[in-house]
Amino acid sequence: MRRSVGIFGSTGSIGQNTVDLLQRQGGAEVYDVRVVTGARNIALLAEQAKTLQSDMAVTAEESLLDDLRAALSGTGIEVAAGSEALRAAAAQPLDWGMSAIVGAAGLVPTLEMARHAKTLALANKESLVCAGELLQDTCARHGCRLIPVDSEHSAIFQAMQGGSADISRILLTASGGPFRDWTLEQMREATLAQAVAHPNWDMGQRISIDSATMFNKALEVIEAQQLFDVEAGAIEVVVHPQSIIHSMIEYHDGAILAQMGAPDMRGAIGFALNWPERRDLPVDRLDFAALSRLDFAAPDEARFPALRLAKQVLEAGGLSGAVFNAAKEAALDRFITGDIGFLDMAALVEYTLDKLHLEASAANSLDGLDRVLEIDRNARRTGMDWQPA
Ligand SMILES: NC(=O)c1ccc[n+]([C@@H]2O[C@H](COP(=O)([O-])OP(=O)(O)OC[C@H]3O[C@@H](n4cnc5c(N)ncnc54)[C@H](OP(=O)(O)O)[C@@H]3O)[C@@H](O)[C@H]2O)c1
Repeated sequence: MRRSVGIFGSTGSIGQNTVDLLQRQGGAEVYDVRVVTGARNIALLAEQAKTLQSDMAVTAEESLLDDLRAALSGTGIEVAAGSEALRAAAAQPLDWGMSAIVGAAGLVPTLEMARHAKTLALANKESLVCAGELLQDTCARHGCRLIPVDSEHSAIFQAMQGGSADISRILLTASGGPFRDWTLEQMREATLAQAVAHPNWDMGQRISIDSATMFNKALEVIEAQQLFDVEAGAIEVVVHPQSIIHSMIEYHDGAILAQMGAPDMRGAIGFALNWPERRDLPVDRLDFAALSRLDFAAPDEARFPALRLAKQVLEAGGLSGAVFNAAKEAALDRFITGDIGFLDMAALVEYTLDKLHLEASAANSLDGLDRVLEIDRNARRTGMDWQPA
């Protein structure tokens, strides 16, 4: 029996790596691809649908439905567009679903996959940050196995295979991004091109900028707390510029387990695809003699306030994660269009968190998806209205 799969966000960086692995592991002969989804990159979406012989291709952009239909005419592949079509495509039984849409736009399809898929490979960390309890609860109620794809959380998940009890610390490694050694004055003038030029990882534009601000690491701290159910104070960020150690766990007796590998997302995606087996993956093998050294440092919260704000979110609880993520997405939109500067992004998020503090801490994601989406909209509006001093 072929394994039924769906890839949400197949045209993105994680999505393309997923398609690459599916192809290397037998493609349509082994995998019954039910759906691939994208947004603006219609040519790639159509090519992927044909290569994988997918039953269906969905674009999030309703205005591009005719383009997708034209690109797939004569193939028999069903096409659809819009957020409701994405939701409906996720509400089908799947053996394995990849959640790799970027941002809070991935939340609804991810929750549907949690209801209908046997295994949910989760790259869309925003779902956990916005609605972690709701997602975990939905997985538990529907018997869906959630496997993290973020390299750090995959590392922790892999290290925990020996047992998750008795963990005293989670050490999330961070490359430090392109501005690791920049001064605040230099960072104030940072351009979009400089912010997307990540030194180690080849990623989508938005997560690359989030790495430069360390908002990505801040999201990952919240994601780790949601996934692994540890005390907020037990999660530490360690700057590790080489990105060889993908993260570590420490036990009460002081023993530390680290997961290492080349910085290539196909390692974590392949792990989630093949779990509980391990198969040969097309990632470089480490040569420790050539590496010769691994460096570590404490993060600088003065230059990277996102990390301090993540702690604030964990302390406040409730729906603060949803506010944090939505404000961060608004900040990112405004930085990308040149409306605000690099350092303004953290100031905007801090302002939004303060403004919506009471509303966010009084609610929680188990109050339901509508509540999460409502607070997401409020936070975006507040973030868009914020003005630099
Ligand atoms: N890239 C990495 O190495 C990496 C590592 C760890 C975790 N992650 C996480 O994985 C997720 C995807 O990241 P990525 O770097 O692969 O992003 P990406 O390259 O920007 O790709 C995002 C995907 O989402 C689609 N998309 C964009 N806006 C959408 C919307 N409003 N509704 C539905 N689909 C939409 C894009 O379609 P089009 O391209 O066709 O417009 C594309 O398929 C993020 O949550 C990120 O934090 C990524």
